[in-house]
Amino acid sequence: MHTILITGGAGFIGSHLTRLFVIKYPNYNIVNLDKLTYAGNLENLKDVENDPNYTFVKGDITDLAFLRELFATYNFTGVLHCAAESHVDRSITDPLAFIHTNVLGTASLLQAAKENWNGNYDNKTFYHISTDEVYGSLGAEGFFYETTAYDPRSPYSASKASSDHIVRAFYHTYHFPIKISNCSNNYGPYHFPEKLIPLCIHNILNNKPLPIYGKGENVRDWLYVEDHVRAIDTIFHNGKIGETYNIGGHNEWTNIDLVKELCKQMDEKLGREKGSSEKLITYVTDRAGHDLRYAIDATKLKNELGWLPSLQFEEGISKTIDWYLANAQWLQHVTSGNYQQYYSKQYGV
Ligand code: NAD
Ligand code: TYD
Repeated sequence: MHTILITGGAGFIGSHLTRLFVIKYPNYNIVNLDKLTYAGNLENLKDVENDPNYTFVKGDITDLAFLRELFATYNFTGVLHCAAESHVDRSITDPLAFIHTNVLGTASLLQAAKENWNGNYDNKTFYHISTDEVYGSLGAEGFFYETTAYDPRSPYSASKASSDHIVRAFYHTYHFPIKISNCSNNYGPYHFPEKLIPLCIHNILNNKPLPIYGKGENVRDWLYVEDHVRAIDTIFHNGKIGETYNIGGHNEWTNIDLVKELCKQMDEKLGREKGSSEKLITYVTDRAGHDLRYAIDATKLKNELGWLPSLQFEEGISKTIDWYLANAQWLQHVTSGNYQQYYSKQYGV
């Protein structure tokens, strides 16, 4: 019987990962540890919150004393570490919050696991979920490989790079059983509407401007979130200890082309006149230090573990828009801040 700790399970990717594990592995106990920052929303997990193998614990990954108690209580055999500050623009205005959570939080979690496992690493895994942004910014050509030297350029990516280094240091120094994956940009249901795709869906619905940084020429490599968590499941169970795996779907879009595709599909779905949403596109001042292009080579994951993405982008975007249209209340709660009352209603504190 495994008891697995998922950190940040109330966030975007963490909630998909938690749902997958709770449903797919009824013989695992899944503990979701989340601080419920602005990005953590328990409404993301309403459908599994009463499942017998699921427990939610509110807490902070930077609190080592709390983590020691948590590990002593549950004796986890695995950790899937998603908790982080994740939005580049917020890292530009408040870098210390990112260094605190992403660097100190990851180090504290490693330390608590190491103390609890106490050198007995059989059947134990500490899986650190990271981003392709640690590799820096590409020009028009080339890809990020697992061997690409780190070159982070935003406070967010620098804090994630630091955490990756600390995770690897535990492996090399203590033979601590780690795995790392670095994934490209995710999209899909339950994405907080501060990131490009859900922000634009929300703004199109409300006839508000669609802010495009700079000329909209920056390129991102988009992966449907359910494909990402399937890859994490594969690596967690079949990947090698000490290894890093890149995750991505070879799906590069300039921001402007992506937003135009969104506008096109939303016009069709909302029965609006062709071209009407595109009129909302508004070019705004570029992001400071805006990375030009990200592109992942995920050949290692394909060749060694057989993982492939399942969805084409146009299909994934269509599913995503349909989800937002069918879940107007979720979006309304998130944009009004009401979701933050859900915890006290659900847990009575
Ligand atoms: P998110 O911002 O949606 O969720 C982060 C979660 O972590 C939230 O639930 C938040 O409450 C929780 N959290 C924050 N600080 C905490 C703390 N101190 N203690 C406990 N919980 C805390 O982020 P996301 O987009 O789901 O990203 C999850 C992970 O995946 C991150 O590590 C991120 O770097 C990585 N990642 C994200 C993407 C992407 O496109 N979103 C791509 C690749 C990798
Ligand atoms: P984002 O969703 O913030 O992800 P990341 O910065 O981690 O890649 O942004 C995706 C791209 O969209 C990025 O190039 C910045 C751009 N962008 C805009 O043009 N306008 C916006 O309002 C936002 C949030 C992002």
